[in-house]
Amino acid sequence: MILSEQLPKNQATKTYTASWQAPSNIAIVKYWGKMGFQQPINPSISFSLSESYTQTTITATERKEPNNRLEVEFFFEGERNETFANRILKYIDTIVADLPYIQYFALKIESSNSFPHSSGIASSASSMAALALALLDIQNQIDPSLQLDYKMASHLARLGSGSGCRSVKGRWNLWGKIDSYTSSSNLYSTEIEAIHPLFNTLNDTILIIDPNKKSTSSTQGHALMKNHPYKEARIQQANKHTQELLECLKLGDFDNFIQITENEALTLHGLMMNSNPSYTLMLPNTLEAIARIRNFRTQNHLPICFTLDAGPNIHLIYPNEISDKVTPFIQQQLLSLCANDRVIYDHIGTGAKSLMVNHE
Ligand code: DP6
Repeated sequence: MILSEQLPKNQATKTYTASWQAPSNIAIVKYWGKMGFQQPINPSISFSLSESYTQTTITATERKEPNNRLEVEFFFEGERNETFANRILKYIDTIVADLPYIQYFALKIESSNSFPHSSGIASSASSMAALALALLDIQNQIDPSLQLDYKMASHLARLGSGSGCRSVKGRWNLWGKIDSYTSSSNLYSTEIEAIHPLFNTLNDTILIIDPNKKSTSSTQGHALMKNHPYKEARIQQANKHTQELLECLKLGDFDNFIQITENEALTLHGLMMNSNPSYTLMLPNTLEAIARIRNFRTQNHLPICFTLDAGPNIHLIYPNEISDKVTPFIQQQLLSLCANDRVIYDHIGTGAKSLMVNHE
């Protein structure tokens, strides 16, 4: 056996590469408010999308003379991006204890999104999930006795962006501890197994009402929940909605699904409006679209509803089997409310995947 100290000085340095794609997700029960370090004050449920994703490749090269400073380069869509690099450096610093190899390797991280930067789609969930999976994958290559641990990947993604923990697995994910669901946790998300077929064909058509950056970020919004006058009531409501949504998803109950989904979206924006300081992210066209969607549902008796992220854009949720009725409605009544008629047709997806050949 050759001990590493006896290796010739010009021995080639070890290099590992990992490449992962992770989806964005849309929450039905919303995560809003944090406790401790990146833990949620309430449980949330989302489904993974399919067309909106981040792809991240990491090349890790063993450092000749490692020191306390991490060596990380970040390229977004082919270009060096210092703003993102600083955020990622901070993040990586928080997970060195989980992945100690990081100190001994120089990391080149290359990332790109399937959706345009200014589309109003939040990229933090998909980008943090893809990054966490790629970082973990490299650890498993260094130590081949390790298997990819999805809980660990979800935990690492959460430390970068809370909602990112729900972007590792596909379909429906629950994040946050609830007593009735033994595998649930505040530290990672769990894929929900009991799903009626109706909810496994959902479409999410994203109406881009305004693609511009929001005036108040989600992270700032979470912080305002700390002293929010309705905090305790919100925690109770989210727990109740989580229980009820699990039942709807199991039984295929779309009427209650609509009730919970729209109530959650409007509660989220209500909480923003009566935070201190108060702020609004919905725009006049957001409200007009909501009125038209509700009117269309009442007149046609169709299972369709809306949700909102922390922004003005509408996510139109409906089972694929009614697409032929919904598409003309979008074209005729909703497109004109969108910035430059922009709409993204997305649907429920199967979760993150490795982009390396011969790999899980
Ligand atoms: C309204 O996960 O973006 O989309 O943990 O600070 O990164 P950080 O926040 P983030 O918050 C998402 C909030 C939400 C609701 C949700 O996805 O559950």
